[in-house]
Amino acid sequence: MTQRVTLSVNGRGCEEALEDNLLLIDYLRGRRGLTGTKRGCDGGECGACTVLVDGEPRLSCLTLAASCEGRAVETIESQNRKGTLSALQRAFHEKLGAQCGFCTPGMIMAAEALLRRNPHPGQPEIREALGGNLCRCTGYVKIIEAVQEAAR
Ligand code: FES
Ligand code: FES
Repeated sequence: MTQRVTLSVNGRGCEEALEDNLLLIDYLRGRRGLTGTKRGCDGGECGACTVLVDGEPRLSCLTLAASCEGRAVETIESQNRKGTLSALQRAFHEKLGAQCGFCTPGMIMAAEALLRRNPHPGQPEIREALGGNLCRCTGYVKIIEAVQEAAR
């Protein structure tokens, strides 16, 4: 079964015929070509697939695309819409918060949601906000420093 769904992705509204069982990650990557969102565990454990839905972090591997009817979806591609790095992207680059980079889109989107609701978070708030995002390269210290730098 398909249903017609109206949603916005990175500020662009659209109407789509979406299968009931189509996952948001597959819609974004396969239909919209937004391959910045990464599939890691594919089971809600790693956070690599994190996007924002109405400003809140959501695991796109566990979210049905059709459930985004009337909602605003933001992916990592929304961070540099004007062709320049966002403050978070620049801070992750400068503070070495990314190594292989696989976890980075999800980390940045989770951090983006945090900074919108709390522009000056302390370390405990950052750790909590990124608690569902796993990184196997950096040891997390550099990631937390990057979020602090972006907040500054
Ligand atoms: S790919 Fe979605 S949580 Fe790991
Ligand atoms: S930078 Fe490699 S998994 Fe995080």
